[in-house]
Amino acid sequence: MLYTGKGGVGKTTIAAATAVCAAERGRRTLVVSADAAHSLGDVFERRLGPDPIGIAPRIDASEVDPRAEMHNHWGRIRDYLVEMFHYQGIEDVVADELAQLPGTEEITTLLAVEKLAASGRYDLLIVDCAPTDSALRLVTLPEVAHRVFRLLLPTMQAITRIGTPVAQKIVSIPLPRSEVFRDAETLIYDKLTTLRKRITNSQTSVRIVVTPERMVIDEARRAYTQFALFEVPCDAVVMNRLLPDEAAHEHFFQHWGRLQVERCREVEEAFAPLPVLRAPLLADQVTGCERLAELGRHLFAQAEPGDVFCKSARVRFGRDETGYFAQVPLPNASEDDLDVVVVDDELIITAGARRRFLKLPRRIARRRVLSAKLDTERLTVHFGSAAHPGEDR
Ligand SMILES: Nc1ncnc2c1ncn2[C@@H]1O[C@H](COP(=O)(O)OP(=O)(O)O)[C@@H](O)[C@H]1O
Ligand SMILES: [Mg+2]
Repeated sequence: MLYTGKGGVGKTTIAAATAVCAAERGRRTLVVSADAAHSLGDVFERRLGPDPIGIAPRIDASEVDPRAEMHNHWGRIRDYLVEMFHYQGIEDVVADELAQLPGTEEITTLLAVEKLAASGRYDLLIVDCAPTDSALRLVTLPEVAHRVFRLLLPTMQAITRIGTPVAQKIVSIPLPRSEVFRDAETLIYDKLTTLRKRITNSQTSVRIVVTPERMVIDEARRAYTQFALFEVPCDAVVMNRLLPDEAAHEHFFQHWGRLQVERCREVEEAFAPLPVLRAPLLADQVTGCERLAELGRHLFAQAEPGDVFCKSARVRFGRDETGYFAQVPLPNASEDDLDVVVVDDELIITAGARRRFLKLPRRIARRRVLSAKLDTERLTVHFGSAAHPGEDR
């Protein structure tokens, strides 16, 4: 279970409360922080590191340190990049900086979480993720990186296959040695594929934490659309810091109380069919197992913390009376932020700041787009005849 949401809404607190509740109800639980700005240790009032430590019966906690693991996964690939940048006359510090491929930290973090998930020591793994935008990058990167590498690797390999010393004279950059390719291939074909499988697997799910505030809800709605675009399943929204009834009736808070009722209704509608789990604003900040357990009881009064509450829609290709179509889940998307094109055998969808390249099945590829229709839940693209005569097989 991955928890995300805007900064400061209570992700870490809710993730820890979920873990405490699950452990109380008998499940072996690990809660791990994947947010570089770790605060899970503060919530448990314990010092945490990359190796899980016991917090209470059936509950362990840890904080991922991607920098410490970076070398295992990226060592030779990074060394090669530094070498290449040096060769171009770029000075040391800058070459080092440039070789920090964007996204490597996120992938390394996910690999560390995957290792814990695959260890079999836990029934449930709760991940306290970074704020929405980084979390989106985190879960969509395995697919994005897989594509980029797949395009890049054959070209590099073709150049190198000429025989490195000869090629070296033709191409004026240092060429990677075969170990670099081996590392890159393991990364792409084994590791990224495993991660992608784990993220879209039916037991994995994202929960978006919100508070009854306009900006928080707007960001959550956009995130929900983008998770759906990448088929990252979401199964619940957590509405945190709700004013308790007795406070909402106080004169000073009456307006807040009314707004809160409206916003809860809005969240229920915008995220339907996801259930909305509710947590009240407690009288003091929430640290230590006892207070976390109290919050957990509110959240999961009618549910089990480790259950997946809702199944997310997937991309679907099919045929109806008008012809072939593709259906992409895009709840809450707005037409203004959406762009759809087909290039060769790929359907390219851009929603806000994210773009997904969907490989079309053979029978649909290279057909003209007849129409693209957006409703509240999904985008439906209809395809016509083949773009080039003779290719309509
Ligand atoms: N339901 C709640 N009642 C009272 N305080 C809360 C509640 N949820 C979160 N807090 C407090 O709000 C602050 C931010 O929470 P935190 O979980 O660190 O947010 P995030 O991880 O989203 O940045 C913390 O001081 C936390 O104790
Ligand atoms: Mg946090």
